[in-house]
Amino acid sequence: MSSALLDIHLTEHDADAALRADARAGLTANPKQLPPKWFYDARGSELFEQITGLPEYYPTRTERALLERSVDEIAVASGADTLVELGSGSSAKTRVLLDAFARAGTLRQYVPQDVSESALRLAMDALAVEYPDLELHGVVGDFTKHLDRLPRGRRRMVAFLGGTIGNLVPAERAAFLTQLRSVLQPGEQLLLGTGLVIDEKVLVAAYDDEAGVTAEFNRNVLHVLNRELDADFAPEAFTHVAVWDVEHEWIEMRLRAQRAMTVHVRGLDLTVEFAAGEEMRTEISAKFRPGGVRGWLEATGFEFTRSWTDPDARFALTLATAV
Ligand code: SAH
Ligand code: AVI
Repeated sequence: MSSALLDIHLTEHDADAALRADARAGLTANPKQLPPKWFYDARGSELFEQITGLPEYYPTRTERALLERSVDEIAVASGADTLVELGSGSSAKTRVLLDAFARAGTLRQYVPQDVSESALRLAMDALAVEYPDLELHGVVGDFTKHLDRLPRGRRRMVAFLGGTIGNLVPAERAAFLTQLRSVLQPGEQLLLGTGLVIDEKVLVAAYDDEAGVTAEFNRNVLHVLNRELDADFAPEAFTHVAVWDVEHEWIEMRLRAQRAMTVHVRGLDLTVEFAAGEEMRTEISAKFRPGGVRGWLEATGFEFTRSWTDPDARFALTLATAV
């Protein structure tokens, strides 16, 4: 019999306050910007799932193949009784890990954590049926704020997959790793998925697909602001832009105003002017060098255990241990 718990570390009230603060700061900044976590309402989470199946979007299938190659070794060596997953979304690839842990026979509890309550509930409903012997303990929370409230286990492994760490700017990434290390006990593990620096054409295509799904995903943040903050953005008047920033080694997604526009964000009592051609940053997706990942893990109190890379060196899975 499975049992399921859901902790809410981010209430609707907290999320509303955080969105207001981010939107006010980002829309009055120069250049304008919005943090990527606001993409993921129910529609945004669904669009992300569609992205994972696009021919151009190589990260998901590459990471899945890496997991398939490495999970038995990871599960047997880890001995974890609790798998925590940050930004778990649909937990689709996690099933590869859960199956390996089931074979190893140590895992008792799975703790998916996500800012998107709708995505988390959908995932948990399906997992409860598929893994009846597993305790499910979902957490609605923000991994940049609420790591200290994660449930404890006898021995935990924290999975942070998909390359989502690349959506944090460097200062946020360092703060995140430091905070994560501070909530782990020595010996607990981190399994981290990171996109690697590869050919620019392949990278840009992954974020600017032919079918336009990523463009819809990008514009979705404007639908979120319209609904949640009573704004009047015309999402179709913004063009999706994905560029490779050579200096920072990240893909930058932007929304470019096709014409001059005045946008009213009534919920903030704010009027925002866009010039024709003005670009607003909506996401960075940083890609890394294998040595770099090891370096910043070691700098934040983790010991590098092992890593796996696909034959085209597009993606890496790194296992590290808190020391
Ligand atoms: N791990 C999955 C999903 C990646 S999509 C995979 O590898 O395919 C990124 C996920 O992180 C989304 O489900 C989104 O809702 C969640 N997310 C984004 N920012 C977050 C934050 N600050 N805190 C918690 N979850 C976040
Ligand atoms: C969730 N995250 C790792 C995705 C990425 O590739 O940066 C989000 C995404 N943005 C555009 N496509 C996918």
